[in-house]
Amino acid sequence: LNIAVLFGGTSGEREVSLASARTVITALREGGYEPLALDTGESEWWSELKGVDIAFNIQHGVGGEDGVTQGLLQSLGVVGTGSGVLGSALAMDKLRSKQVWRALGLPTADFALVNAATDAQALLANWGSAFIKPCTEGSSLGMARVDSPESFVAACESAAVFGDQIMAEQFIDGPEYTVAVLGDRALPPIHIEAAREFYDYEAKYKANTTRYNIPCGLSADDEQTLCKLALEAFAALGCSVWGRVDLMRDSRGEFQLLEVNTVPGMTDHSLVPMAAAAAGLSLLELLEEILLMSWF
Ligand code: DAL
Ligand code: MG
Repeated sequence: LNIAVLFGGTSGEREVSLASARTVITALREGGYEPLALDTGESEWWSELKGVDIAFNIQHGVGGEDGVTQGLLQSLGVVGTGSGVLGSALAMDKLRSKQVWRALGLPTADFALVNAATDAQALLANWGSAFIKPCTEGSSLGMARVDSPESFVAACESAAVFGDQIMAEQFIDGPEYTVAVLGDRALPPIHIEAAREFYDYEAKYKANTTRYNIPCGLSADDEQTLCKLALEAFAALGCSVWGRVDLMRDSRGEFQLLEVNTVPGMTDHSLVPMAAAAAGLSLLELLEEILLMSWF
């Protein structure tokens, strides 16, 4: 089987993808594969796909994780790993993900599409605080917590750098959890304790002060509830093969869905490799499962 690894791209998460690709390519090489490494930030990278049977896609963000690459591969007749066009596109859009979950009765915090002219006072009167984020960006880029109408406009402007559509989400002060999904299985959930204000870009990839707890410290019943919800949320968006569902627990003890990542980070700070290890899977076994599930 001729394998290519697609990485890089041109999104705001390019650097994260380069780090993820190092992990993936190294593990595949150590496993005896000879993957063709293709940087999708370079022009006409797709012309290198001749003779490739399957492309392991480790591009994060717009262009690589949002259905665009997935559609291109489909047109070229090359199998790509992970979710297809629909699941990728829906999961990349946090606003529309939440609309789908709401329609299906799955729990997710209140939200609104906003811009700098939105009545922030009314929004904050209802919610207390809000998270402002671009609808289609990852790794917490362009994201900020807002507690006052004064900081709202600046937050919208920062978010707008990363995309046209901006959303506000009711602030949840609860602990954050993440559940890696592999096929129809949930891997052991991780409880994330960021020492910073929230689990931002710095906390994700740079700080060594973020703590990742596996086991996650929930009761067996709560852990089961969390995993079931993660699998439902993943399926609801039409996602498949692998991904990672991010959630928070609110002050009433209810889990609230944040988003699904269809190409989760695989850097040495990343969560899916940790969850796989806790499930007894080596990195290579994880990658082989993803390749096999995508192929069949
Ligand atoms: N968007 C980053 C890569 C993640 O979710 O892991
Ligand atoms: Mg993300």
